[in-house]
Amino acid sequence: MSEQPDLVFVPAASRIAIEAGSLLRDFYRRGVVTEYKGDVDLVTEADRASEKLIVQRLHEVFPEHGVYGEEGTRSHIDSEYRWYIDPLDGTTNFAHGFPVFCVSMGLERRAPSLATADDGELVAGVIYDPLRDELFVAEKGKGAYLNGGPIHVSKIDELGEALLATGFPSRKRHDNPNVHFYHEFTLRSHGVRRAGSAALDLAYTACGRVDAYWEFNLNPWDTSAGALLVMEAGGTMTSFDGSPFRLDSGEVLATNGRLRGELIALFKVMFAGQDLEPIPTPAEFAAKRAAKSE
Ligand code: IPD
Ligand code: CA
Ligand code: CA
Repeated sequence: MSEQPDLVFVPAASRIAIEAGSLLRDFYRRGVVTEYKGDVDLVTEADRASEKLIVQRLHEVFPEHGVYGEEGTRSHIDSEYRWYIDPLDGTTNFAHGFPVFCVSMGLERRAPSLATADDGELVAGVIYDPLRDELFVAEKGKGAYLNGGPIHVSKIDELGEALLATGFPSRKRHDNPNVHFYHEFTLRSHGVRRAGSAALDLAYTACGRVDAYWEFNLNPWDTSAGALLVMEAGGTMTSFDGSPFRLDSGEVLATNGRLRGELIALFKVMFAGQDLEPIPTPAEFAAKRAAKSE
């Protein structure tokens, strides 16, 4: 860890994320029972146990801080500092034995005069992948790090040479058009990965494993840590139209900076219904297949 400067919140948060990650790893190896929160929104005992552990540890180390967790924790949320916790990001993967999931902890500083609806400043972020033992951390103004070494976004400057990532919400998948964007960006890039953990998608953007990432309808527990990582690693966080990233925004676009303009311009064109490559319906495709086999 020698290359990291003195960090204020990250050391304790990292210890907590690693402890929670090791608990998740144990559950993962044993296997867990899956329950449904919504139509395809899964939750397991591991999600709850991880949140319980993180909240307990945060209260021990930072008794003044608020905690806002995906599995229902809302404690001291009027405090100046507020942790957004995703105790298990990638639950669907976890439940199926697909090895991509993590713990995500983002810290927001909210000035006492800040209006409830406004975002404070992201000051720290920790994302821990327990299966790869990869710890991604960032603090405001102090850079982003993976296992102690500095990380930076990629230098790819054309979409045609980029590898992208996206995700699809667990709830109301039919309510947004992401499959069209998935299709269009796949045709225009080296490909689009859909690995199933928004926090890791952001961490991977920060360290240059992917060049940009977008998703609809995320929550602050998915994005707070990763957003800071991306920005501290030299990338950009915005909405699809280039307006500032917000924690409760329905749109998240993370880029390496060089691809920002091209991606925002393409979103504009696509939202206007222009320049779209039609996707054949299954029936049209079946008709073509049948014609070929005649
Ligand atoms: C989900 C994952 C997934 C994203 C979904 C999230 P969860 O979080 O981050 O990649 O596509 O939108 O809800 O439910 O596994 O914590
Ligand atoms: Ca999540
Ligand atoms: Ca979760």
